[in-house]
Amino acid sequence: MAPTSVAHPETTPNSDHRLTSSSLRDRLFFLTFAIIVFILTPLAAAQDSVALSVDTTKPGAKIDRYIFGQFAEHLGHGVYEGIWVGPDSKIPNTRGIRNDVVTALKELHVPNVRWPGGCFADEYHWRNGSGPIEKRSVTLNPNWGGVIEPNSFGTHEFLDFVDQIEAAPYISVNVGSGTPHEAADWLEYMTTAQPTTLQKERAANGHAAPYKVPFLGIGNESWDCGGNMSPDYYLSQFKIYSRFVRNFNPAQQEGDQQMLKIAVGPGGTEPEWTTWTETVMKAYQNRHWSWDMNGLSMHFYSVVKWPPAYTSVGFGEAEYSQILNKTLEIDELIRRHSAIMDKYDPQKKVALVVDEWGAWYAPSTGSNPGFLVQQNSLRDAVLAALNLNIFARHADRVRMANIAQMVNVLQAMIMTDKEKMVLTPTYYVYKMYVPFQDATFIPVVFNTGTYTSGNITLPRVDAIAARDKNGKLWLAITNIDPQRAIEIDVSAVGSNARSLTGETLTAPKVDSVNTFDAPGTVIPKPVSAKMQGNKLPLTLPPKSITVVSVEQ
Ligand code: AHR
Repeated sequence: MAPTSVAHPETTPNSDHRLTSSSLRDRLFFLTFAIIVFILTPLAAAQDSVALSVDTTKPGAKIDRYIFGQFAEHLGHGVYEGIWVGPDSKIPNTRGIRNDVVTALKELHVPNVRWPGGCFADEYHWRNGSGPIEKRSVTLNPNWGGVIEPNSFGTHEFLDFVDQIEAAPYISVNVGSGTPHEAADWLEYMTTAQPTTLQKERAANGHAAPYKVPFLGIGNESWDCGGNMSPDYYLSQFKIYSRFVRNFNPAQQEGDQQMLKIAVGPGGTEPEWTTWTETVMKAYQNRHWSWDMNGLSMHFYSVVKWPPAYTSVGFGEAEYSQILNKTLEIDELIRRHSAIMDKYDPQKKVALVVDEWGAWYAPSTGSNPGFLVQQNSLRDAVLAALNLNIFARHADRVRMANIAQMVNVLQAMIMTDKEKMVLTPTYYVYKMYVPFQDATFIPVVFNTGTYTSGNITLPRVDAIAARDKNGKLWLAITNIDPQRAIEIDVSAVGSNARSLTGETLTAPKVDSVNTFDAPGTVIPKPVSAKMQGNKLPLTLPPKSITVVSVEQ
């Protein structure tokens, strides 16, 4: 839990996790003005009550909407079939992009999509994916199953896709097997408004106006699949790409429209990763005018054993708690790398960009192991909520994140099979969290409690609060405990709160999933609570995520 999540002093049993960031004076002041939230069921025992107070007097950082970003790699059926079916497909599409997937994604207000990889990015040559589709080179995808890459989904198709879902493109350029020249040409091709040869080629391919490219990733996992580089070697490459891979769009030359350049950053918990961050950030502090960096990437997958052995279906409480225990490690990792960044960038100009994260399980039975197909269960919904909460608590430094991945790959939002489509539990968490996009973080005080399974002890409850752009207050509360409901009793002290309205996502089992045949097993249900006396009673079911607005 983050320092802004503090235990309520009057309701903290000895065994609870407590993290305190307020002085006693602050707390007394806070108690005068706070909204106090209790969860309560009529017959429940006292220890099952949790008090949760929202400190509306101390707003924090903006929760950047870009932390709700996604990742679409040329991997398995992530792009081909999942997004792209081609204009001649019987599956309803717009210029080759599936309409059902676009409609579903629009509901999430997806802020940005990272593309074309991943490991794929460092073997991608953009020219293979431009020009008339029927004349494009057919290549291979050695990273992901060695399958044929038809290149029919290229630059124009990707930019059309993000336009259709109203998201911003986050382009990863090839550092591993490409050149600065190739990447510079790609950016000129996409962004120049001047009548250069590349602009004319773009216009001939159907897009005369320059595209906007707000985010540029320079390499991917350059310490591993991106070329096994040392931090110093990568840094020398990064400086060259940062200098020469320019965005020429006239609308992106100044202010907050300028393209942000994101460097490869750490990818695990071992000491080598702090060395990587130190090297890059120290260079940033002493940088020459000729290069710049706006973001440092971090990758963290929730995987207990490597290669991934845990199954995505048919598991029990032991695997549920172990995966969630692993996922919470990201909090410490963000702290560690943020501390290094603070040392060299105290003004927090460089964002920590968690541009790959999520659960990684064993491939689904019968699937191509190179396609990273896994089911998505209620456990993944809880995992997603916990990660989003952590990003929100670190909103001053974590200003962008991309779940891996969008469709059919790893912790996906959507799964497809030919004409069929199903929305996953993770999809519904993203939908419920839409009000948190660009909202202002509001500190909460709550007693996390504990939930124990075997030798794993986790906080029992997690919560964040935020005020949206219209001034409405929102709460997202996760009950991690798969056995016990949590009771909240909402009292409004110094507030006009009258009711809570929102949705709860839960399901019969921790491994409940949505399937093509039963798509409604894990879907949100309405929930509300009205003031009773000075309290708002509400129950959080076991293993659930609840998002409510506080109505006046
Ligand atoms: O998301 C799958 C892969 O995981 C990505 O291609 C790579 O960057 C990471 O190792």
